[in-house]
Amino acid sequence: MSRFSLISLSLISSLLLAEPLTQDQAIQKGSVLSSALVQKLSGELKAQMQSVGVVGALHFCTQNALVLSDQIAQESNTSIKRVSAKNRNPINAATPEEQTILHQWEGLLQTQQPLPAHTIQGDSDGGYTYYKPIIIANEACLKCHGDIAADSPLYKAIKSTYPEDRATGYKMGDLRGMIVITLPKQN
Ligand code: HEC
Repeated sequence: MSRFSLISLSLISSLLLAEPLTQDQAIQKGSVLSSALVQKLSGELKAQMQSVGVVGALHFCTQNALVLSDQIAQESNTSIKRVSAKNRNPINAATPEEQTILHQWEGLLQTQQPLPAHTIQGDSDGGYTYYKPIIIANEACLKCHGDIAADSPLYKAIKSTYPEDRATGYKMGDLRGMIVITLPKQN
């Protein structure tokens, strides 16, 4: 058999064998991947804060937060981002559709109602998008997202890297943003 037909045979069988992703599987996959991302980022952040201090850790986030998230996305054949209504990195600005979900969750928090662990939406191509709230649950987050003294080296470092920064002034329990994971139709 020629090489071409072997390849096309294996392609056809993999297409036939691939089961479409169910909503439950999408939720499970979203939950595993979002936990992996949170664990990876917070582990690295903690180590950096201890070894190079807060300004060094800020630069570490600038250089590595997106890279680490892309790594997890590539390994799992998904796309992963962290978005916010008050973003630091312009790349992480929420789209109008994402803003709607964030506003809904803000409303729940304002009326002292619990947030859902996640929201899942079916996409028009048969895949799913998984959304997970990011709450400020750790005092360490406030070091770079709380009230930062305008005469501090950290403030200068933030302003020089992110002139449009909107990600300060947060308090414990605030909604910082969300993780958005796009899961393709096939597992
Ligand atoms: C050492 C400073 C520092 C600390 C501490 C820190 N962050 Fe950030 N954070 C950053 C920087 C810098 C960015 C922008 C880099 C990026 O993700 O592209 C960022 C971006 C984010 C984003 C993406 C949205 C945006 O605004 O760009 C979220 C969500 C976020 N941080 C949540 C947290 C949470 C939750 C904690 C506590 C566990 C935390 N951060 C602690 C520096 C920090």
